[in-house]
Amino acid sequence: MDDLVQLTKDKDVAIITINNPPVNALSPAVAQGIVQAIEQAGKDDGTKAVVLIGGGRTFIAGADIKEFGKITSGKTQRGAGLLPLLLQIEDVRKPVVVAIHGSAFGGGLELAMAGHHRVAVPNAQLGQPEVKLGIIPGAGGTQRLPRLVGVAKAVEMCAEGNPISAQEALKLGLVDRLIEDDLLAGALDFSREIAGKPTLKTRERNNKLGNPEQNASVFAAAREKAHTKQRGMMSPLAAIDAVEAATRLSFEEGCQLERKLFDDCLFSDQSKALIYAFFGEREVAKIPDIPKETALLPVNSVAVVGAGTMGGGIAMVFANAGFPVLLKEADEPALHHGLATIQKNYQSSVKRGRLTQRFVDERLQLIKPTLSYDDFGKVDMVVEAVFEGMALKKEVFGQLDRVCRPGAILASNTSTLDIDEIASATSRPVAVIGTHFFSPANIMRLLEIVRGKASSKEVIATCMQLSKKLGKVGVLVGNCRGFVGNRMFGPYRREAQFLVEEGASIESVDKALFDFGMAMGPMATGDLAGLDVGWRIRKEYRHLEKPGLRQPFAEDRLCELGRYGQKTGAGWYKYDENRRPILDPEVNEMVRRWAREAGIPQRKLSSEEIVDRCIYALVNEGARILEEGIVWRAADIDIIYLNGYGFPAYRGGPMWYADTVGLDKVYRRISEFHQQHGELWEPAPVLKRLAEEGKTFAELNREQTVMA
Ligand code: 3HC
Ligand code: NAI
Repeated sequence: MDDLVQLTKDKDVAIITINNPPVNALSPAVAQGIVQAIEQAGKDDGTKAVVLIGGGRTFIAGADIKEFGKITSGKTQRGAGLLPLLLQIEDVRKPVVVAIHGSAFGGGLELAMAGHHRVAVPNAQLGQPEVKLGIIPGAGGTQRLPRLVGVAKAVEMCAEGNPISAQEALKLGLVDRLIEDDLLAGALDFSREIAGKPTLKTRERNNKLGNPEQNASVFAAAREKAHTKQRGMMSPLAAIDAVEAATRLSFEEGCQLERKLFDDCLFSDQSKALIYAFFGEREVAKIPDIPKETALLPVNSVAVVGAGTMGGGIAMVFANAGFPVLLKEADEPALHHGLATIQKNYQSSVKRGRLTQRFVDERLQLIKPTLSYDDFGKVDMVVEAVFEGMALKKEVFGQLDRVCRPGAILASNTSTLDIDEIASATSRPVAVIGTHFFSPANIMRLLEIVRGKASSKEVIATCMQLSKKLGKVGVLVGNCRGFVGNRMFGPYRREAQFLVEEGASIESVDKALFDFGMAMGPMATGDLAGLDVGWRIRKEYRHLEKPGLRQPFAEDRLCELGRYGQKTGAGWYKYDENRRPILDPEVNEMVRRWAREAGIPQRKLSSEEIVDRCIYALVNEGARILEEGIVWRAADIDIIYLNGYGFPAYRGGPMWYADTVGLDKVYRRISEFHQQHGELWEPAPVLKRLAEEGKTFAELNREQTVMA
């Protein structure tokens, strides 16, 4: 036994403490330590009961996820896993009481269920989140959980992966007692109360396994839900199969089936992608040239300028996280309209049961409307969200420079404009940064943090840390037109339009990308965001377009007809009063006519070509972004696409997807498109190089990219 697991004693009760910071992941060494401790405690005649507890901030967050990559890459042999250890715990003839604080997740909950009793602090969380990593519980979780909480709840927890609170666990019988004060003291008391009584093995408790008729409807409903809510993912369906096995097979046979399903999932591309995304989300928080010790600026109060679509949402984001927010508008009607929208949005969350009225009332109290800059000197940070226009932004930043205190962070929510030029309107460009929220700001998790040339490390580090407090995934990007997400989305939506102009129907383009796993097809996405946004930008920047270079025209024509998308009731599709899309054959016919007039040859396009054209357009632009050093690593791009653009998580993001396909193949296909469609498809040099070297984007050495 080493430092990872300690065996101590409190009179007649043995205490096994796991100390594997930060989250007590059940690495093979930890499991080995527990085996030894359990054996020793089991043999000791002076021990009446055993308490198993986590040291530090949590119980056990699961198996060590890093081990999975070693297994699938062949670096480590797949062993028996945790199953034998859990049987050993269950077979100890003295009661094993598992004491839970923080999270008992995955293998952590499986281990807890192998104990004879569980006690927990009230704010502990218990769950089987494996499906979110593309796998299923692999240490008997699908067999023990239904025996403790019943089949319906076990299916839900294993297939959806969301944790439950200790209170709910108590009601369900997963936890035997809540301990309000000292967890260890409470667990010791509990173990003394039950010492000497016969121990109950979870695997032998069959009274909650239900009957075949009831179970059949539970599994059918769960499968149906998985097909819609976790579309395209294999792990939820495998998890349901495994729980179903618990109701049909013996515990041992059920565990065998679970192991087979676990292995099928573990070796799948889906699980590799989801595990990559798990670590990627944590990696993007680490900025190589900004040390962890960088001093953070205090942010306790904020102001938002502009209460339109974005400003209102951003004010809600800060208020939801407990920050007092000063919300400034240009005039009374706009302020009134902005506040009314905020209230409407909150009310709809209350109606849907997402928020309580009390929470909403408290948040609304935090938002203080204003028409002046009078109180701006008191706030620690300002987020500007006025109309997109350089002259106006500069005017606002000039004003902020005059009224804000030294040290305050001045952020812009611009989606396209040059942060350095905005910063030049102030006497303190070090304090200026982009915080690009996505719409609807109170819902979308992504926050692109745009680093200006002069943005200070303290300002960047503070914004990165703030993103977590706001419940967002902050990704640091360099300053370029459209930054990362929108810059890549341009070519993606351009290709979608080209495909329609070349003969694909609107619905076939959307269907191909929806079936690929995108949350929405590109045409429907355009309608949602408003086709006029791009139209206005294209009109403004037409002078920058290279003469003779093919440009899509269909959306501009639709806008000329007043078809802006959902907001006008029609765009690529028509919309009913509930904003449901209805196919409009007239639009397909119009596009055909425009294309013939423009001399574009019409042909049949396969869904494979549709997907390749759109997704590889993302990849090629992403490669350029990497090459220019706009981001540090491919994971930055992938995390942006998973959290802001509805890219399917089980494909890991566009760059990871390209790695999975193989960059040689991707390069060949892009080269074909280059030949067929001209210079818009010129392969990014870094793609060519990696393809020739047989490497991946994920391997791209960080030092090869330099932050712009
Ligand atoms: N294995 C390895 N590392 C893990 C880990 C795990 N299970 N869980 C978290 N970590 C690491 C993170 O990568 C991070 O590392 P870093 O500091 O180097 O970036 C560090 O621990 C802290 O994690 P977070 O930043 O996520 O800390 P939070 O406090 O925000 O969240 C948590 C804590 C809620 C426990 C969250 O980390 C989490 O959800 N972890 C994953 C839980 C999970 O999926 N468990 C199932 C694993 S699979 C399994 O158990 C299979 C079994 O059935 C056989
Ligand atoms: P909007 O038009 O809904 O709101 C802008 C608001 O700013 C208006 O209410 C206007 O009255 C107010 N305003 C103008 N001048 C002002 C001043 N001097 N002081 C105070 N308020 C003033 O615009 P939207 O969509 O909210 O966009 C705001 C910013 O966010 C733009 O920079 C835009 O590019 C960016 N953005 C927009 C996204 C979207 O999907 N709408 C997504 C991400 C960023």
